[in-house]
Amino acid sequence: MADTTREFYLGIDLGTTNSSIAWGRVGKNGIFKPRMVDMQLPMADGSWETKQLLPSFFYLPKDQNDHEVGYKAKHMLKTQPGRVIRSIKTKMGQDWKKTIDEKDFTPKDISSYILKQLLFGIKRTFRTIINDIVVTVPASFDSEMRSATLEAARKAGIKVKNDNGSPRNILLDEPRACLYDFVNRQKQGEIPDHIIDFSAKKRILVYDLGGGTLDVSLHDVNFKSPEDSLVNIEDIAISRYTDIGGDNFDERLTDYLFQRYCKENKLKLQDYSDIEIEYAKMSLFYYVESFKRMITNDALRREEMFEDYEPEDVRRTIMAGYLLEQHPLSIELSLKEYEEIMEEFLAKDVKYPIISNIGEQIGERNLISPILDVLNKAFKKLNEIVKPDLILLSGGMTKLPMVRKRLSAFFGMEPQTIPDPDKAVSRGAAIYHYYLHQGYQPTAILAESIYLGMRGDKKLKLVPSGVPLPYEEEFDFNTEGKTKDIAIPFYRTGSSRPFARRRFSLSKLYPPKTKIKAKINVDLLKVIEFQAWVEEFPSDKITITIDFTRDTKQKKTSVDLKQRIEPSVVEKIEKSRQIIKKKEDSSRELQYNELTEFFNSIPYTGKPNYAKLTEKEIVNSRNIDQVVRGLLNIQRKTHHKIREKIILLLGDIVSEPRIHVNYPNIISSVTKNMVRYVDMIQNLENPNPKEINITVRYAIETIGKTKTIDLQRNVITSLIIWVKEPIFHKIRSAILTSMGKMPPDNEILAFLVEFTSKPQKKNTLIPSLWALGKQGSRDLANPIIIDYMGNVHETILQKMDSTVDFEIIQYISYTLLEICKINPNHPENCVSSDARTEIIQRMERKLIDLEKPFKKKKFSPLDQKLKDWGRFLSTQKWINLTIQALKGLEFSDEDMELLDGFRRN
Ligand SMILES: Nc1ncnc2c1ncn2[C@@H]1O[C@H](COP(=O)(O)OP(=O)(O)OP(=O)(O)O)[C@@H](O)[C@H]1O
Ligand SMILES: [Mg+2]
Repeated sequence: MADTTREFYLGIDLGTTNSSIAWGRVGKNGIFKPRMVDMQLPMADGSWETKQLLPSFFYLPKDQNDHEVGYKAKHMLKTQPGRVIRSIKTKMGQDWKKTIDEKDFTPKDISSYILKQLLFGIKRTFRTIINDIVVTVPASFDSEMRSATLEAARKAGIKVKNDNGSPRNILLDEPRACLYDFVNRQKQGEIPDHIIDFSAKKRILVYDLGGGTLDVSLHDVNFKSPEDSLVNIEDIAISRYTDIGGDNFDERLTDYLFQRYCKENKLKLQDYSDIEIEYAKMSLFYYVESFKRMITNDALRREEMFEDYEPEDVRRTIMAGYLLEQHPLSIELSLKEYEEIMEEFLAKDVKYPIISNIGEQIGERNLISPILDVLNKAFKKLNEIVKPDLILLSGGMTKLPMVRKRLSAFFGMEPQTIPDPDKAVSRGAAIYHYYLHQGYQPTAILAESIYLGMRGDKKLKLVPSGVPLPYEEEFDFNTEGKTKDIAIPFYRTGSSRPFARRRFSLSKLYPPKTKIKAKINVDLLKVIEFQAWVEEFPSDKITITIDFTRDTKQKKTSVDLKQRIEPSVVEKIEKSRQIIKKKEDSSRELQYNELTEFFNSIPYTGKPNYAKLTEKEIVNSRNIDQVVRGLLNIQRKTHHKIREKIILLLGDIVSEPRIHVNYPNIISSVTKNMVRYVDMIQNLENPNPKEINITVRYAIETIGKTKTIDLQRNVITSLIIWVKEPIFHKIRSAILTSMGKMPPDNEILAFLVEFTSKPQKKNTLIPSLWALGKQGSRDLANPIIIDYMGNVHETILQKMDSTVDFEIIQYISYTLLEICKINPNHPENCVSSDARTEIIQRMERKLIDLEKPFKKKKFSPLDQKLKDWGRFLSTQKWINLTIQALKGLEFSDEDMELLDGFRRN
């Protein structure tokens, strides 16, 4: 069914190295226009930047519950590789886990964290929680990898089932996504007709080489009619899952450099533990990946300028600091040398197949073998060796000149790179999301055949590759000997190891040759369901539904670090880092004495203390900007008790008017970091109540002190969300106070008016009254604000009538003073004179009522009444001040001081 109620559509590219979200809606020209979501993301240095790609890296800081996903996490690979998880996508569906601080993290967990971070990005942009979204997967992902992705999506809050329990089409194959984006760009006129024109059906081969996977697929693409905006894509063949991508290139270079480094420094590997070597390599990997990007960009820049260059002349140095003890790594490589090291991936001697050798050399781990696989599958289907009309390149790795050159040599034609190759997939996913809501019925095929393992190495084909999905088939087989238990192992094309094993028990022992009926169902998302039962005894029917998401496959691809780390080794690494750090810093002078004092005041917990570790960095900073960055950096990775102190310090820094004038960027990075921190706590499943009461409260107070203007909208929305959040009920007064301190804003004002008019406990009513007064106190209050005032003074007066609490009455009086006083600069903006008269009369009456108990009798100095009398007097003072303001009378200096003090809270 077409759904026209949505305003925008969204797609996620959950990539091995980078993830992103695109959104879009139909433009004026009637064509859907996708764009990337700009996400506000924290950087490694603590600042926040607008980015369209989120690195798919996870990092768990020590001694903390919260984690980091993105740039910071990627950066931490350099110094704390053991606490970083990367390239999780290639492990989806496997029984893999990594243990950090005794906590286990599975591929599903990590993927769901990445998805959550992305969804958080959209929540901020669209100010609404979104659970209807498309997520992409490699076309070659098998059933388990898809199930695991679905499970991760579900964990992240994405709706994976319809209300009736049927699966939603939320997964989309990446090459299809590329095609949607490509075709869409062509429709928009961004791709000239001479490259491709879709007036007739076109056969396109998509070659997507990303960080972890290589997807090759062949499709027929056409439009039903030229005016049709929905493109029809038919899958002809999809390559088998091939675990090759940028990571393999980077690992190859890491190994090469590490060997060279050990040789040049005469280091013997046996002097180091496995874990030290592994950590050194993991941190080198970070530098290698950035070297690859830089040297590629250098070459691309020259190509763009039509410069002739020799790969020998493009050079870059990899500088990876201290990998093992005091030996820094610094090695220069040319593009030519790089390409030689990577040559093994190119399969340079393989040529485009001809009939006589079709089907050979498939299955090897290089950049060409998956193409052969696709051509072979297409040959079986179409009985011809396909020559595509267009080769479409996608994925960050296709930027490498060597990759492009090799492909153009192999195909004998120049491939076309999709614009923005690292963003096309998410853009395409948003387009597909729109298609789905238009009632589009997607089609899909299965990349590989599925077999059931029978006795004696025989295999029964259950699903042939290339069949259109959804697919359902019934079949039967006979048991061999006397049977009660039947094992059912599943295989896929070309693999001798089952990808899933199941066993079912019949209710009794059956004779040999019992006929078992079975049914296999592969849905559009390529998730497989299998059922089996004994045919002859329908009453004794056994039905098994295979839940692939709970499969346990014993495939270990990575070392379980926890089992191999010895505490002494970890300590050694930690110590040597500290020594290096000290050496670097010892020549500098201490500049910020009060900071040193602050760090000294942090109690020593016996655990490695991040604040201490970074102390010197900060103390030696040259300017306040660096100090704040350092503080932000520490507060994000430290224990909340230390964070609490740092936030207090940040609060002091941002309250300085000098900082507001000279360092506006400090104000905004502190604000962003505080907002992010509070949001993070709000999203935790079980936040620590102590942390909320103290550290979060300080963060919110700090936000109030920043009096931020450039992030005003974001902050205000957050404050309004937080104040309604049940887990923050104890710190509501801090939130309300910060609301009061925000620059004048109608949204806050409207909120406060409504909030105050409802029944509230005293400890929230008082700050809300104060905030309302504060928001209304600006001399430049604009007419809309006064409109609100017209409605609100009556609500406030009613509150006053119903209470005898002096403190509340003082605050009510202050609020009325601020919002209803005569503003000599803008008399037209003030409440009407009728309203003013009404307020004055009611306040005078209240004053008389309040004074009554004190008039009647005299009381001794020890009487409680004496205290009350004092309270009455100050209340009387406020009421009189308010009346004075409403009459437009000037304040004495003394009164002005009182008022200013109250405003400052
Ligand atoms: N300018 C560049 N030069 C060289 N390599 C690059 C460049 N930009 C990105 N890459 C490499 O491309 C890979 C990432 O590509 P991409 O973002 O398409 O992958 P992904 O979507 O995360 O992975 P996958 O599609 O395999 O899940 C990484 O190995 C990265 O180093
Ligand atoms: Mg990708």
